[in-house]
Amino acid sequence: MIPATSSVAVRERLRIAIHKSGRLAEPARALLAACGLVWRESSDRLFCFGETWPIDLLLVRDDDIPGLLADGVCDLGIVGRNVLREGPAAPRPGPRAAREWRPLGFGRCRLMLAIAQDDDWSDPSQLAGCRIATSHPTLLAAWLAENGVSAEVVTLSGSVEIALRLGKADAICDLVSSGATLAANLLRPVAVVLDSEAVLAGPAMPFGDARGELASMLLRRLDSVLQVRDSRLLICQAARAALPGLLRLLSDAEAPTITTIEGTTDRLAVQALCRGAVGWQRLEELRLAGAQGLMVLPVERMLA
Ligand code: PRP
Ligand code: ZN
Repeated sequence: MIPATSSVAVRERLRIAIHKSGRLAEPARALLAACGLVWRESSDRLFCFGETWPIDLLLVRDDDIPGLLADGVCDLGIVGRNVLREGPAAPRPGPRAAREWRPLGFGRCRLMLAIAQDDDWSDPSQLAGCRIATSHPTLLAAWLAENGVSAEVVTLSGSVEIALRLGKADAICDLVSSGATLAANLLRPVAVVLDSEAVLAGPAMPFGDARGELASMLLRRLDSVLQVRDSRLLICQAARAALPGLLRLLSDAEAPTITTIEGTTDRLAVQALCRGAVGWQRLEELRLAGAQGLMVLPVERMLA
């Protein structure tokens, strides 16, 4: 049984670090709220006390999250994969380094190498001897080593995209989402260092106390929310002979429920939980294959 929120000692409360501002802040809170968590916010808006469950939020700078996890100040974090893999600014020894527990499907971007728009590009070897500006020195150094390139890594804390214009670098390695920042700075992306998105990060070892049960419950709900987010329930009717064709078009649905319609021998009702999009195109194909009375419904909750 999970303990009631007010009767739990401080270290038995689970503490999740999330961004206090920026692109991941709102989606992260919305995701946790969808898991049934409700908070009371402190007046400085840096701490949220869990009211429905003993799960609190700490609102912090994104770059601080790996360090807070490594130091055990926070138990879990929602952070970009790029930040998690880059690790704390000052690396800590020991087993505490956080792992990726779940990809969360939002905040997608890429850490990319970019060069001036009019420079030619053949392959990574041409970066040999170049100065590359980045705020991800660890990830860049690993990529350079992997590609056997010896280049100088120039670490900047922000505004990486203007490093070329300032004469501080010959190339940059920065996050690209829409590509607008690169285009505005007359740069072009040439190689992917890391595909990133928001992830739930947590310790490699299980918690040895009440936090373990809280984390399991949270994961269960999170998995359900993530699964539901892209799921649609499709309902239709068809003649029995049409069934094989329909099932081919519903290959992403797990074991559709098929029942014979009362008073008939060859009329079926089909109910299928589809994992992907069910757009007009697919509905037209299903109709041509014999489906009638097609209906697509969003799924609100699911618990295995
Ligand atoms: C990131 C990144 C680029 C920009 C890329 O910065 O460093 O500057 O987003 O996005 P785009 O491809 O859609 O233009 P962010 O806005 O997160 O702020 P920061 O540079 O201050 O970290
Ligand atoms: Zn930026």
